[in-house]
Amino acid sequence: EASGVTTKRERERGRAMLAFVPCAGATAARGCARKSGAWSSGATRLRCAAKSHGDVTHSVVHGSKRVAAGCAAIAVTAADSLRRIASEVLTRRDPGSMVLAAVAALYALVLMLAISAIAKRFRRAQFVERASKRRELAESINPKIAQFYDVRSDLWEKAWGSDDMHHGFYGLGKDLNPRKDRFVAQHDMMKQLLEYGTAEAALNREASLTIVDVGCGIGGSVRFLAREFPNSSVKGITLSTRQVERGNALNADAGLDSSRVKLLRGDAMSMPFEDNSVDLLWSLESAEHYPDKLQFLREVSRVLKPNGRFMMAAWCHRACPPKLDTNDLYILSKIYKKYCISHMCALEEFENHALRVKLRGVRTQDWSQAVRPFWRAVLVSAATATGVQELLRIGRPAIESALAVRHMIEGFRRGTLVFGVLAAFKPTPQQLQLEDDRLAELTCRTSAQ
Ligand SMILES: C[S@@+](CC[C@H](N)C(=O)[O-])C[C@H]1O[C@@H](n2cnc3c(N)ncnc32)[C@H](O)[C@@H]1O
Repeated sequence: EASGVTTKRERERGRAMLAFVPCAGATAARGCARKSGAWSSGATRLRCAAKSHGDVTHSVVHGSKRVAAGCAAIAVTAADSLRRIASEVLTRRDPGSMVLAAVAALYALVLMLAISAIAKRFRRAQFVERASKRRELAESINPKIAQFYDVRSDLWEKAWGSDDMHHGFYGLGKDLNPRKDRFVAQHDMMKQLLEYGTAEAALNREASLTIVDVGCGIGGSVRFLAREFPNSSVKGITLSTRQVERGNALNADAGLDSSRVKLLRGDAMSMPFEDNSVDLLWSLESAEHYPDKLQFLREVSRVLKPNGRFMMAAWCHRACPPKLDTNDLYILSKIYKKYCISHMCALEEFENHALRVKLRGVRTQDWSQAVRPFWRAVLVSAATATGVQELLRIGRPAIESALAVRHMIEGFRRGTLVFGVLAAFKPTPQQLQLEDDRLAELTCRTSAQ
């Protein structure tokens, strides 16, 4: 089932192909042969191709690993047959032969498309299987994430031309504006997340609050929060030492006092903050990396003060059921690998975790539509002469990231990926007590009835 080709439906499809392909191939080839004896060698080869296609279909259905080689061999045979037939037709130039040659060409085209579709599906299924084995073996992803960002942060800062390492926000519904400037859109993302997280009850911007940005990158969002809350202390945590150095240097360049605004090394799984010490906890496009999403929510609930606010945006996969199919799993596995992500979950799962750790006022929203234009904008901005130059100068990591963009685009287009946001607050002990009392009263009433 994992390979996606051994289901009953696949077997039936495979059988139908086994019946159809040699039949069509043989008819075309026979037609050619009848019309002109000189075609027999091409026709025989075409028949052979049809037969081996049948064999390969059979192999695919049974998950044979030689399928890729088989497909390549058939493609070569088919191309060679076509070349021979074409040269015969060109020599003879009789109309009947031309029609039959066109039929043969069409058949070969269909054959090649079918082969490439089967091969693609097979390749994806194999990749997913290998990726799931790799994930089981991965003991701890944190050192890899730290290294991933240590190596790439400087490059991205140069290539992206900004300290924001997150999607842009292009609007929702009738406000969607795919032509919005990328930098404006990235800034709008932070504004929108803050607005969403404080929509239920505004926060006093002039108050002296304790704010934490979990997974802060090189501190783009730390500095945004520091500007929005000029009297508050803002701390950002990241796994990457290089990001801490660079972020603190950018804070100094921006004239921010290091006793008020600071980046430190820290893990979202065990945050370096006291219980009940944070007024606002923010996490923008980092939670997809975390190996244990529930543990993250536990930490959020631990460090927040009663009435403290929590807002996050994270890459999620679509809600299940229906179960993720081979294509979904393939796209996700590619993204996990290219962006060093432990795994994604559905937004609903984050919501359940938030309720489980006793956060309240939990609200979620899908912003996939608002971020969809982002990756195309990144490609367009990278397609300039300087962008290409920079890509070549940086080399493999930059090229790999650029190539991985196609999986993000496909993921959002298919609906595999969801850009999820969540906001909640930590209730006071009195609020929780009141809830417990109400529940006890309700249970009593129900059992009395
Ligand atoms: C895509 S960047 C987002 C940066 C930033 N929030 C922004 O919007 O510019 C992801 C960040 O998450 C951090 N991260 C990943 N796993 C983490 C963990 N377990 N604890 C703390 N930070 C983590 C990475 O170090 C990186 O800084």
